Amino acid sequence: MKTEILKILRQSDGFVSGQELCDRLHVSRTAIWKRMKKLQEEGYVIEAVQNKGYRLAQAPDLIQADEVRSWLHSRWLGKEIYAEESVDSTNTWAKKLAEEGAPHGTVVLADEQTAGKGRRGRVWENPRGVNLAFTFLLRPDFQPEAAPMLTLVMGLSVAQVCRDFGLDAWIKWPNDVVVNRKKICGILTEMSAQIDYVNYVVLGTGININQKSIPEELEDRATSFYLETGKCFSRAQIAAAVIEKFEENYEIFIQTCDLSTLQDSYNQILVNRNQQVKVLDLNHEFTGTAQGITSGGELLVRTENGKTEKIMAGEVSVRGFYGYV
Ligand code: BTN
Repeated sequence: MKTEILKILRQSDGFVSGQELCDRLHVSRTAIWKRMKKLQEEGYVIEAVQNKGYRLAQAPDLIQADEVRSWLHSRWLGKEIYAEESVDSTNTWAKKLAEEGAPHGTVVLADEQTAGKGRRGRVWENPRGVNLAFTFLLRPDFQPEAAPMLTLVMGLSVAQVCRDFGLDAWIKWPNDVVVNRKKICGILTEMSAQIDYVNYVVLGTGININQKSIPEELEDRATSFYLETGKCFSRAQIAAAVIEKFEENYEIFIQTCDLSTLQDSYNQILVNRNQQVKVLDLNHEFTGTAQGITSGGELLVRTENGKTEKIMAGEVSVRGFYGYV
């Protein structure tokens, strides 16, 4: 019922009458009144005016399943949502749920991660109460080779959502989202598969939202929604927007199981495009101009001798000529 009440209050511009709430939720006026009291105790500011009804004036920034659902209009992604105050890592949690049989499209979120994981064994810091950390559990019906491309689909989705919220967001290949050339989002994809069969994929995303300061050593490389706009955002609302956008892009992706239909949208907001990049792998380093991604998600880099190299994500790291981007 909390999801439904919040949804109705959020969809309305002004007051919603007690009678309308009773009719739509099929409960008594007393039940509505009790619910409103409970919401107020949880920190929601609800104005109640005689002959007008109720209006949601302010909501706390909570990471709760009901809060996310109240913003959400998806078809299958997030039909099951779990949220916890604190977990080690949402990816680890999603893998556990997957092993227990949780369905395709399950979403898990946490307010805090005590052992958040980054790529290449790095740690992902996720202090309580400020940022977003969530993981999608997917059971795709495609070959394991296609799974790494989901990370690019997620990067694209997050960048598009950041733009919808007014940020000048770009993608740093393969899947970091950057604003002002600083990272605002990281994505970690993990998979359980047999040689020709995907058991499940967990797609974990961390987005810096209301973080007001960045540790000194990362200051020139990381940012947040707050630092870019000076405003605080509802984390649940942004999570819901990412769920909807990813669902839309995923449905396009699985029609071909490659990025052929998303490639143009991706390349349009690829920060490296037409920029000089340094490609580093274990054995050597070269520079060139990034051209865009292929339908397989590889980065095309034209080298100084006019050759075009296809760079596979995971094998190398790509840096801007003068720094991170
Ligand atoms: C990176 O850029 O190194 C990837 C960072 C991925 C962080 C997210 S936060 C939610 C999910 N749970 C984790 O433990 N990691 C991912």
